[in-house]
Amino acid sequence: MDWQSKQVLVTGGAGFIGSHLSAKLLELGADVTVLDDCSAGDPVKVPSEAHFIEGCITDSTTRASVLDEVDVVFHLAAIASVPLCEADPERSDQVNRQASLEILQEASCPIVFASSAAIYGEPVSIPINENHPIAPVGHYGGQKADVDNAINSLDKDSNPAVALRFFNVFGQGQDPSSQYSGVLSIFIDRASTNSPITIFGDGEQTRDFIHVSDVIAALIKCGESLIEQGTSSPAHGESFNVCTGHPVTLNQVVKVIEDCLGEKLEVGYQQVREGDIKHSSGDSSKLQQKLDWSQNIQLSEGLSDLISN
Ligand code: NAD
Ligand code: UD1
Repeated sequence: MDWQSKQVLVTGGAGFIGSHLSAKLLELGADVTVLDDCSAGDPVKVPSEAHFIEGCITDSTTRASVLDEVDVVFHLAAIASVPLCEADPERSDQVNRQASLEILQEASCPIVFASSAAIYGEPVSIPINENHPIAPVGHYGGQKADVDNAINSLDKDSNPAVALRFFNVFGQGQDPSSQYSGVLSIFIDRASTNSPITIFGDGEQTRDFIHVSDVIAALIKCGESLIEQGTSSPAHGESFNVCTGHPVTLNQVVKVIEDCLGEKLEVGYQQVREGDIKHSSGDSSKLQQKLDWSQNIQLSEGLSDLISN
């Protein structure tokens, strides 16, 4: 598809995934506008060729101004940290659920929504496919589930929309500075400064770590399909897992980092974090079959790239 004449809105474009997506869309020739309140993101990450609007998705006037005359919305803005949502469920409900549902109603163009593996809760079977029960354990998962469900309830007369259920995304540009950051960014940051790392629980919890470049490929494929085919797209009204299908424990992650660095890490164990699920591993066959997506970067490759840069 030709992105040259396309007006694209990326909410959350100053964040980890949104800034990668904005850069890729600009490279493809799109005209990109980023809306971000910089509560977690950093304006420095927004590519200079993008139009940047610092604003909040909960503000209806701001939403109306950015949703006017766009060809597709990639809706990524959210409070992405599970413990932060537990700490302030009221605010996270406004941002992650209410504002997202409003964007779904107000937009008159295709919407690609960043859903999450957190909506499945503790898995009853692994790997998790899209038919797995939706049973989130915390506020964050519940908020994402409500928006994901709304997209799955859309009919052929509605605006084209899709939900991508990302598993644990990692890669360059993931901010390690807070205790709420993604675990791999924290571990790599600590390892590079010879600081101790903390594992919440026994380290035997599993996660399915997917590289950000594979996530961007999924977002773009869905955007293209919805723009070109509208509600006839195989993506419309659907949800897709974006994952590798290869679960790893945090203890195994530590070992991979130690092997890359050639030295032992200092590891401390603390109490399990509130709202945490124990296991997570997805099946991405649906995305592979319906949208011809494939996963390309392995965890060890992505980690060694992070360590050497
Ligand atoms: P991030 O925190 O780096 O990016 C989210 C961005 O949204 C930030 O720049 C933040 O400032 C912005 N934001 C937050 N509240 C806002 C508001 N009220 N108005 C405008 N902007 C606001 O997180 P990320 O890892 O890039 O995640 C992007 C999306 O993907 C989120 O929706 C997240 O829930 C989802 N997701 C992420 C992962 C992951 O592993 N990183 C996995 C599953 C789903
Ligand atoms: C992550 C995403 C969330 C997404 C979900 C999908 C972030 C910040 N969160 O949540 O947006 O919807 O994946 O599956 O990207 N841990 C430690 N030590 C640390 C930090 C974390 O042991 O210093 C543990 C946590 O307790 C948890 C695991 O590592 O068991 C992963 O934590 P985290 O990276 O925050 O991701 P999720 O909670 O899985």
